[in-house]
Amino acid sequence: MLLHADRPGPRIAPEIYGQFVEHLGRGVYEGIWVGEGSPIPNTRGIRNDVTQALRQAKVPVIRWPGGCFADGYHWRDGIGPRDKRTRSINAAWGNAPDSNAFGTHEFMDFLDQIGARPFVSVNVGSGSVREADEWLRYMTAPVESSAGAERAANGRAAPWAVPYVGVGNESWGCGGKMTAETYVAQYRQYAANLRTFGGGPTKLIAVGADTDDYEWTEKVMAGTMKSRPNPTPLAYINPRPLLWGLSLHFYTFTGNDWYAKGRNVGFTRDDWAKALGRAQLTDEMVRRHSAIMDRYDPEKKVALVVDEWGAWFNSEKDAPSALYLESTLRDAVIAGLSLNIFNNHADRVRMANIAQMVNVIQSLILTRGKEMVVTPTWHVFDLYKVHQGATQIPVDVDTPNYVQGATRLPTISASASRDAAGKLHLSIVNLDPDKPAPVDMVASALSGRRAQASAITADRIDRPVQFGQPDPFVPQPVKAVAIRGDRLTLTVPARSVTLVTVE
Ligand code: AHR
Repeated sequence: MLLHADRPGPRIAPEIYGQFVEHLGRGVYEGIWVGEGSPIPNTRGIRNDVTQALRQAKVPVIRWPGGCFADGYHWRDGIGPRDKRTRSINAAWGNAPDSNAFGTHEFMDFLDQIGARPFVSVNVGSGSVREADEWLRYMTAPVESSAGAERAANGRAAPWAVPYVGVGNESWGCGGKMTAETYVAQYRQYAANLRTFGGGPTKLIAVGADTDDYEWTEKVMAGTMKSRPNPTPLAYINPRPLLWGLSLHFYTFTGNDWYAKGRNVGFTRDDWAKALGRAQLTDEMVRRHSAIMDRYDPEKKVALVVDEWGAWFNSEKDAPSALYLESTLRDAVIAGLSLNIFNNHADRVRMANIAQMVNVIQSLILTRGKEMVVTPTWHVFDLYKVHQGATQIPVDVDTPNYVQGATRLPTISASASRDAAGKLHLSIVNLDPDKPAPVDMVASALSGRRAQASAITADRIDRPVQFGQPDPFVPQPVKAVAIRGDRLTLTVPARSVTLVTVE
């Protein structure tokens, strides 16, 4: 392994460690919101154990309210006195009742409690430019305006900063079944009219592709990079792109069949390998979508925002709520591998939001009534938080393949960064379920420094985290990390995610 400490790359945007929360299953209700009268310890209705864990993992940004839910969400349902709010039906997710007790004010309070920033997805599918514009005004306009006065009457005088605004969600699917051309036409109207007031520029994020739909990326880039689609030679044209970011949704399951995602507990070695093979495809997705973006935007002004990613397996029949998945060691390995890929593409990937933060798909946190556990995925985010805002250091990995059945994958995945204090951080994932891997890393400026490492692993590939049991995923020190001259050596455990720190 060769670390190019003398060739620093771009800053790793902290937002790569972003989260996604949707009104789905127990993602919001119980998972975050328990209400002020709940016996579960809370601050203004938001559970304290969850905020404490998210603060510790340094969550930088949260996308809300969906997902598919966002294109049916009407923000006015979620403001004003809670006992008078509309009781709506969550048509996106099983017609579940939604009390709207968790609305704009509660979301912003939640963010304040954990120190994160908002990314709101406005409703394009069943909403309008006007509705979205009024929501942004409600959140960000000065108190002297009618929108600000209404917000103040509901308990919040100071405007909120809303740095990130998603214009719809999966508009090619649940968000409107649009063609790329139709979406571009809609997007341009939203982009022309949406703005926030104060708190820095509004960063609009356009709906991007599903997985490998490169044609969508091509068409949305072609239609949004210029203020006029077909400018004449002498006419006025604003040179700024109409978007800050373009999204990408990419999920990992067992193999490549959306309709056969495989089990998330009790899986086989083949399933392990197939899921990791799919997760490894993240690299190809990012590269190919970025290559298209490069043609329209060679200066890389527009961010690729992977605002839905993660391991999505079939829920068990007795799952306590929609899209609830138990969490195993495999999730940690998928998270470590995916985050390494995002770090290594930090020149274009400037936000990513794992789906979904609590009790839904690949969660950082699971709750069962008053109980709460952090998952192996949480441990990876906690371990990797040192990369947030650090300078990426390119790393070349020369590794044998891990082979299982028809799957062949590089055994080792890695990414590295240098923080403001000069510490080097190297995150290493060993995909091999059986064999520890010796790592021999060469880098300049290692001599005379100290290194230490800790690793997340478990006794078996499908070891789950369990309520009321000791947490088997707490990172453990890796012994015998040595620096000699410009070489650092250690052995990372089988099926593991390791962080090496050089001080
Ligand atoms: O994350 C679950 C769902 O997956 C989201 O609502 C949707 O955007 C995607 O299809």
